[in-house]
Parts: sequence; structure tokens; C-alpha cells
Amino acid sequence: MSTDGCTHDCSTCSQKCENEIQKSKLNQLSKVDNVIAVISGKGGVGKSLVSSLLAVNFQRLGQNVAIMDADITGPSIPKMFGIASKRADTDGTYIYPVKSKMGLQILSINNLLENETDPVLWRGPVIAGAVSQFWTDAIWNNVGTMIIDMPPGTGDVPLTVFQQLPVKGVVVVTSPQDLVSMVVEKAVNMAKMMNIPILGIVENMSYFECPDNGKKYDIFGKSQAEAVAKKFGIKNVARIPITPDLAKVADKGLIELYEGEWLDEFTKAIEK
Ligand SMILES: Nc1ncnc2c1ncn2[C@@H]1O[C@H](COP(=O)(O)OP(=O)(O)OP(=O)(O)O)[C@@H](O)[C@H]1O
Ligand SMILES: [Mg+2]
Repeated sequence: MSTDGCTHDCSTCSQKCENEIQKSKLNQLSKVDNVIAVISGKGGVGKSLVSSLLAVNFQRLGQNVAIMDADITGPSIPKMFGIASKRADTDGTYIYPVKSKMGLQILSINNLLENETDPVLWRGPVIAGAVSQFWTDAIWNNVGTMIIDMPPGTGDVPLTVFQQLPVKGVVVVTSPQDLVSMVVEKAVNMAKMMNIPILGIVENMSYFECPDNGKKYDIFGKSQAEAVAKKFGIKNVARIPITPDLAKVADKGLIELYEGEWLDEFTKAIEK
């Protein structure tokens, strides 16, 4: 049959077609209310950092929070939370996510490898399969919000997550440079094509505030966040400055202790 007008949501479609994708099912011991995916057009713009900050913020708002690290070949969540050396328990049927110091439930491929430095040499479909297994085979204990830290770009993993998991919306992370190029538009357009709402844009490394005189410098160029948000009709925008202390707590595995209000309003707005 024709796939014209396909919403990519087979659960609400009455027409059977050869492209039908089944949603992955959570196991009976898990409960996850909301899933938010954090995406970017290209790598290194601070997706994992923003994923971590959002997760910490949701927990500070009183929620039970989980992070699924869907970046299988370049996982960085465990290090930011200081749990890279912890191994997730498995019992042959289920995987038990690792608990962070403050009680966030975290699952990353790094917590399943024998050594955290072992590279994952899998092809795309196997990687995407691992991510859907994180959803179906892990026990997610009464989670209010799950943040999914995605690999950069628009490859197998984002496609699988958007098609198979009940994603409430995406947060797009960019740098000011990134916003003038077309890569961010690719990420935005992917979400649109998959009918996933865009909850907001976070412009990371947006400026640097000089600690000596409080003056702000646009190191990577003038902020484009508002203009891009307007262009795509995206309501919520936040900006995070280049903050050496932030990189420091992330490197030390102490991201849960971060101080900064850049995402406070944003978190509340996307919680609704
Ligand atoms: N606002 C910031 N201030 C200072 N350092 C930052 C900031 N944002 C990110 N960093 C640092 O930049 C590096 C890259 O960030 P991060 O790992 O979050 O990027 P990413 O988009 O997830 O990368 P990848 O595409 O490889 O997954 C990290 O060391 C992080 O601590
Ligand atoms: Mg990352």
C-alpha cells in the first residue's frame, strides 16, 4: 500500500503496510512515565552534559529519574556521574541499571562491558538492537522522567528510538556555530518527520562570562538560538555559557553537585 501520509506511529494507524514498526514493550516490572530524547546535529556540542543537567534538574524537582545512554560507541554518562567502574547486574532475564550517588537509575553499555575501555565494534543494526534492549530488558523502577542521551546525528539509533520508544519529545542541543549551519536543521527535521514534538533548544557554549568583569563574550559567534527557535516554532530556549567549573565537575564524576540556573526555567517548562 502507499505510505503517503504515514505518521510513523503504527499504534494509531489502521492501515497495515510493509513498513509497520512495532513499538518495543517495557517489561512487566518496569514503569516509565515520560521519555525525553536529547539530540544534536553533530558531535561534541554538549549533548551528554545537557542530558545529565536535565536529569539532575528533574530529580531536584522531586522526580524519580533515569538516564538511558544510547550512545553505544561513545558513552560518556557513567563518567559524568562517577559510576564508570560500576557493573550493571544481570540475571539472564533482566538488566538492573546502576544507581548514581543521588539515586538516578543509569544504564550505559559501559556498565555492561568487562572493561570500560573495551571498544564496541558492532554494526549499526546491532547497536540499535542494544538500545531497544535497554528499554525492554532493563528494570526501570517507577521512573517519572527518563532522559535518553543520543549519539550525534540522524543514524540508526535515533531512528530506532523514535520508532520504537514512546518519546514524549526531544531537546535539541547546539552550539552557536552549529546553528548557522544546516546540521541542526537536519536533527530538527528528523524529529518533525517522525512526528516527535521538539520541546526546546539548548544553545550550549553560548558565551563566556569573564569572572573578572562580568562581561559576556560570544566566543563561538553571536547567539542564533532565538532566531532558529522562531523559524521552527520552538517555544523553549535556554543558553548555557562556557563554564570551566561545569567541565570540572563532569570530569570528576560529580555532575550531580553542579551549580547553575541556566536550565531551571527550561526544565520546568518541558516538565509539563
Ligand atoms: N558549557 C560548557 N562549559 C564547559 N565545558 C563544557 C560545556 N559543555 C560541554 N562541555 C565539555 O565539552 C565536552 C563535550 O561535551 P559532551 O560530551 O557533553 O558532548 P556531546 O555532544 O555529548 O559529544 P558526543 O557527540 O561525542 O557524544 C565535555 O568534556 C564537556 O564536559
Ligand atoms: Mg555524548
